[in-house]
Amino acid sequence: MESLLLQWQGETVITRYDRPSGAWILIAVYSTLLGPAAGGTRMRQYPSPKAALEDAMRLAKGMAYKYAVPGMPWGGGKAVIALPDDFDPGLRPGLLHRYGKLVHQLGGLFYTGPDMGTCSLDMDVIAETGAPYIFACTPEAGGSGSSGPFTALGVFKGIQVACEHAFGDASLRGRKVLVQGTGSVGGPLIEYLLDSGADVLFSEVDQAVINHYRDDLGLAFVSSEEVFETECDVFSPCALGGVLNEETIPGLRCRIVAGGANNQLEEIDDAERLRARAILYAPDYVVNVGGAMAVLGMETLGWDPDRAEKEVSASVRQTLRRIFDLAAEKDMTTEKAAEFIADERLKA
Ligand code: PHE
Repeated sequence: MESLLLQWQGETVITRYDRPSGAWILIAVYSTLLGPAAGGTRMRQYPSPKAALEDAMRLAKGMAYKYAVPGMPWGGGKAVIALPDDFDPGLRPGLLHRYGKLVHQLGGLFYTGPDMGTCSLDMDVIAETGAPYIFACTPEAGGSGSSGPFTALGVFKGIQVACEHAFGDASLRGRKVLVQGTGSVGGPLIEYLLDSGADVLFSEVDQAVINHYRDDLGLAFVSSEEVFETECDVFSPCALGGVLNEETIPGLRCRIVAGGANNQLEEIDDAERLRARAILYAPDYVVNVGGAMAVLGMETLGWDPDRAEKEVSASVRQTLRRIFDLAAEKDMTTEKAAEFIADERLKA
């Protein structure tokens, strides 16, 4: 863990071993240059505490870049709660309360909201000890609720812009779009895609959810084995990170990658691998900013949901167009172009 800390370019890591539950709580604050750090709380099992720390660090950096591209006054951070293998769900409320107290003690260094493995109901529990630093609680608890639909809206707009760039036509009518993961972002994204006339394929691991999309909605199901080699116009990763890598990229049969998952590239070279295959990549943190943008706007700037939708749509469209243009003009990957725009703000 020491070598990870030495290599990392971020500011602060807070580490807590939560003895009663056996979980590790890791809060990574990458940068507070543009404002206080804000980022989701991810809760899952990891192969080791070191792997959890690495994830928190990468995700925190992603958040800093996410806010910097559209010019939001927030810094990047992320929390990971790494659960032990034999975690007893009965210990969850206690763990969340102790975590909330820790966030409260940080006094505004780090604000948090939902991420993979947590939802608005968890935020309600965390806020009992962590308020006022907890975003996206349920409406019943005075929060703005799930941020997933707003993330999905931004991803949807990103897919349209990518189609406009790749095919000269933003319309999704008849376009084959493969959504990997039908959770809080992939699910609402499918709704937007169906409304726009796209031909939607989906991949999912939960059998009950597969049945719903395949049997109730009549969508084509793609297994996890085939997901990276299925022909489509747009591949939209909305589940785990690291899905674009040395192994998967050579087999991809899509023209565009644009999805909601964080950290889709396993390593920076993967951006170059995609470009070499003439696959247009919409950088993940550029198109998945919608949830954070909407929630922060509604809870700190007084936006109503309509205003939040407008802001997310306009912002993703504008920044993604700028990134595609810059990448073409400077002959660089879209990932580099996004980094360039973020660095302008982070280094200013
Ligand atoms: N999961 C969100 C993201 O990755 C994090 C977030 C949600 C941050 C809500 C703030 C408010 O962007």
